[in-house]
Amino acid sequence: MQTGKILGISGPTVSVDLKGLKLYERVFVGHGLLTGEVVRLERSHAVIQVYEETRGLGVGEPVKGLGMPLTVRLGPGLIGGMYDGLQRPLERMRKEMGPFIRVWKEMYGLDYMKRWDFIPSVKPGDELQYGMIIGEIQEGAFKHYLMCGSEQGTVARIASGDISLDEPFGEFTGGLEIPGCHEWPVRMPRPYRKKFAPVTPLVTGQRIIDFLFPLARGGAAIIPGGFGTGKTIFEQSVAKFADVDIVVYVGCGERGNEMADLIAEFDELEDPWTKRRLRDRTILVVNTSNMPVAAREASIYTAVTMAEYYRDMGYNVLFLADSLSRWAEALREISTSLEEMPGEEGYPTYLASRLSSFIERAGVVETMNGRIGSLSMILSVSPPGGDFTEPVTQACLRTTGAFFMLDTSLAHRRHFPAINWFQSYSLYAGDLSEHYCREVAPEWEELRRRCNQILQQEESVREVAEIVGIEGLQDADRLVMRVAERIRTEFLGQNAYSDDAFSPPDKTLVLIRSIVEYHDRAAERLKQGATLDEAMKGEQ
Ligand SMILES: Nc1ncnc2c1ncn2[C@@H]1O[C@H](COP(=O)(O)OP(=O)(O)O)[C@@H](O)[C@H]1O
Ligand SMILES: [Mg+2]
Repeated sequence: MQTGKILGISGPTVSVDLKGLKLYERVFVGHGLLTGEVVRLERSHAVIQVYEETRGLGVGEPVKGLGMPLTVRLGPGLIGGMYDGLQRPLERMRKEMGPFIRVWKEMYGLDYMKRWDFIPSVKPGDELQYGMIIGEIQEGAFKHYLMCGSEQGTVARIASGDISLDEPFGEFTGGLEIPGCHEWPVRMPRPYRKKFAPVTPLVTGQRIIDFLFPLARGGAAIIPGGFGTGKTIFEQSVAKFADVDIVVYVGCGERGNEMADLIAEFDELEDPWTKRRLRDRTILVVNTSNMPVAAREASIYTAVTMAEYYRDMGYNVLFLADSLSRWAEALREISTSLEEMPGEEGYPTYLASRLSSFIERAGVVETMNGRIGSLSMILSVSPPGGDFTEPVTQACLRTTGAFFMLDTSLAHRRHFPAINWFQSYSLYAGDLSEHYCREVAPEWEELRRRCNQILQQEESVREVAEIVGIEGLQDADRLVMRVAERIRTEFLGQNAYSDDAFSPPDKTLVLIRSIVEYHDRAAERLKQGATLDEAMKGEQ
């Protein structure tokens, strides 16, 4: 391990005199062994981004290069865990060090002492290559398929039965150990064989999404909105109700108490699809506003790499981040302290390319072991002042397939989720409608068209009403306004604190069908000469 000294400190970055470092190599900084990553190499020094509080760090303190990049450890026991941005187990850390952790010691995200029952699926003589499955472990409700990491070769011996990650799971010919877990560099997407177009729905339980702006498994969506428009509630609702195997939730730079509430709820609530405890399908990565800024930058990579790991076993994984803007701000802060040339609004010029290569980690793939897994993303964005032309929203828009636009005026009227039904879109809608028509009801697409039509008619009727007054409207138009109001309040609106928080597709269908049929019957009675009151009363 190479060692050197700190030459200077500037916010979250330090310069060091260490020779022979590589770009993105992980380093330990100072007596407290703070984790950092090499972000720039100069002839005379290297610059390191430190992921922890640099206060108290002094010039001259030692620095060690670890010879490898920032990695996460991947193995059984991640599900149900809560980690910081560097995959350190928060609960275990708090237990061992108390709430006021100043110097974070190295702690692994995996429990090396826990005992597992390992069922091997390879035998001596088998040739192992990267990504191949070597056996399985029951991790809670999930079959955890252990995959071959970067160590490859011919199996000489393979373990079976009771084992911990501290022990070798086998041996290759030549004596190299087969480990039960492996490390993966967080900034490098895990490989797969093939990517497919996302064509099956990811049911969120939110009617406005599933019905109007559906998300596909393997797709990516952003939900931008100003302060208080409901980003966090939306992300949390989806984390609770989404029809996926595993949820990876990153609380990135937002309030700590929100995460605490979420965890308490997840310990109690059930996954509506499997009736198992929500916590048992969730991995939480927490880097809230009270934690070091630079680790926020790493946190989304740490989290997405764990998500890819379970995707590689053939699971449907949903990655949720709240909020990506706080990640971008951390990136900006680091870039500023590196004195890089600023781009739009002070963000580094590589903001858009970083974001798009991150979002491209979503997808439906054939994994290296031939299974089909998916990684879907829903990312919240908090544009300052609710201005959607700002760089983070714009950069995300270029790579995501769905846009759920939160509308401040809807939130003010307490219409939640405050997703604007005219401005939002989903590029997955075409393919997914076919699926919903086939799997839920053949009239799904027709009802969707009618719903949109009534909402649009309401807009134009409203314009007319502004000129002639409500009284001046024809009965048919007044009916449209009444029905559109029902669509907005009873169908698109969904109170996260009520029994209606989760709406499976059959409930969604029944609701919209009853409203559209109500409209059609009342319109028919109007045609036959009934007054508006009579036409609508007939329904009660
Ligand atoms: N689906 C919902 N049902 C009921 N209330 C909601 C819903 N979404 C948001 N709210 C209300 O809006 C407030 C702000 O939501 P929040 O998600 O914290 O906003 P943001 O994260 O965008 O700042 C919540 O405290 C809640 O009162
Ligand atoms: Mg929030």
